[in-house]
Amino acid sequence: MVMTAPAPPGPYARPVLGLLPEFRRDPTGFLQRMATQYGELVHIRLGPQNIYLLNHPDFIKDLLVTHNDRFVKSRILQRAKSLLGEGLLTSEGEFHLRQRRLSQPAFHRDRLIGYSSVMAQFAGALRDTLVPGAIDMDREMMRLTLGIVAKTLCNADVAADSGTIARALNDAVESFGFMMLPFAEYLERVPFLPFSRKLVNARRTLDSIIYRIIAERRSSGRDEGDLLSMLLMARDEADGSTMTDLQLRDELLTLFLAGHETTATALTWTWYLLSQHPEIEARMHAEIDAVPGGRLPGFDDYPNLGYTEMVLAESMRLFPPAWSVGRRSIAEHQVGGYTIAPGAIFVASQWVTHRNPKYWPDPERFDPERFRPEAREGRHKFAYFPFGGGPRVCIGERFAWLEGVLILATVARKWRFRLVPGHRVEPRPLITLRTRYGMRMVAERR
Ligand code: HEM
Repeated sequence: MVMTAPAPPGPYARPVLGLLPEFRRDPTGFLQRMATQYGELVHIRLGPQNIYLLNHPDFIKDLLVTHNDRFVKSRILQRAKSLLGEGLLTSEGEFHLRQRRLSQPAFHRDRLIGYSSVMAQFAGALRDTLVPGAIDMDREMMRLTLGIVAKTLCNADVAADSGTIARALNDAVESFGFMMLPFAEYLERVPFLPFSRKLVNARRTLDSIIYRIIAERRSSGRDEGDLLSMLLMARDEADGSTMTDLQLRDELLTLFLAGHETTATALTWTWYLLSQHPEIEARMHAEIDAVPGGRLPGFDDYPNLGYTEMVLAESMRLFPPAWSVGRRSIAEHQVGGYTIAPGAIFVASQWVTHRNPKYWPDPERFDPERFRPEAREGRHKFAYFPFGGGPRVCIGERFAWLEGVLILATVARKWRFRLVPGHRVEPRPLITLRTRYGMRMVAERR
């Protein structure tokens, strides 16, 4: 059960504390340096833990799709479990499969058609209430996408609570965000890492709001046809039992978190990139201005918003909201000519892969043309995987594309945004690729 020699290249001989601070200071930069220096398969040894960075799309496909049964997400998410419980993102095995099957219909095409008008309405409300001047783009996008996910999936109006929810989610993400980093399995055993009371308070706040939404629905007994109703009515095939409030809470909180922060992050980076590339912005404006009569765009307009979708795709290449996925192996795994014993951590990083010059010439350049259908066809599917892949692929992928494009098309119809002069822009890799200093922008009427 030992690795066949020689081991994959990597800085595994360096002492643990030599690598940890470097990684903590700049996780994405660290992974990128490892990939550049050591190639397609990098072995990093942190204390007793073997970590393998996969820097080839074939290896990533093997991890997420072909040999997905050799891996679990598991302990990386233990801390997250203290917030999210056994929701879709964190659960494993049979239980996960069942919950995924139950939730899936909420993301079918006919449901998405209904959601699209909510998305455009919420975006339209932002468009119509903005005033010229400085805004915190990241905060605006978070509020917008949180409102949309709550309304579409639970028919809940969280406008009054949106500030509280956003703050609590933010506190939670900040306090356990570090634990989501790819090396967290090892790091979580390091005793000096701070555990914040913030997480406990955040959980309490979120629980009270989510349990209220569940209680209201239970007492109304109405079938709203949304995800919450579907989960409430679901019965276990084996024993006919229904979901407990705790199970419902775990699923809803997971969707609130997974379904808003990622999309908000993608949009924030997109507005930033558009502000830096007026010629691309102008092309996008020409496309969205063609939506007839200046009305809100809807589901049927989506096929005519191809360039806007390309802009969003290219933005998620450069700034992937989920910047890495990690797995722990529970069986022997063969990769790149090596056999690796169970218990290793495997990391596939969107940040690193999406900037690999082998697949992305001139990788730092923002160029939506890379996502023309012809260009996509010639590329390895796993050179680009903002939504992961395989059985654990993002359940909200189509939701997110639709939402992102409709928000861009609605808001950019009337507004363009420019960076506040002197504002520093730097990514901050937490669970998602946030902005270190926020995104202060000036809203200008078009
Ligand atoms: C741009 C937006 C989004 C990005 C980049 C994104 C990315 C991802 C990725 C990479 C994963 C897989 C993680 C892994 O394999 O470890 C994932 C899973 C998931 N996402 Fe998303 N996501 C987005 C939007 C959404 C939305 C809108 C929803 C729901 C409304 C959602 C709900 C989920 C859930 C529930 C999972 C867990 C699925 C499972 O394991 O069965 N996401 N997402």
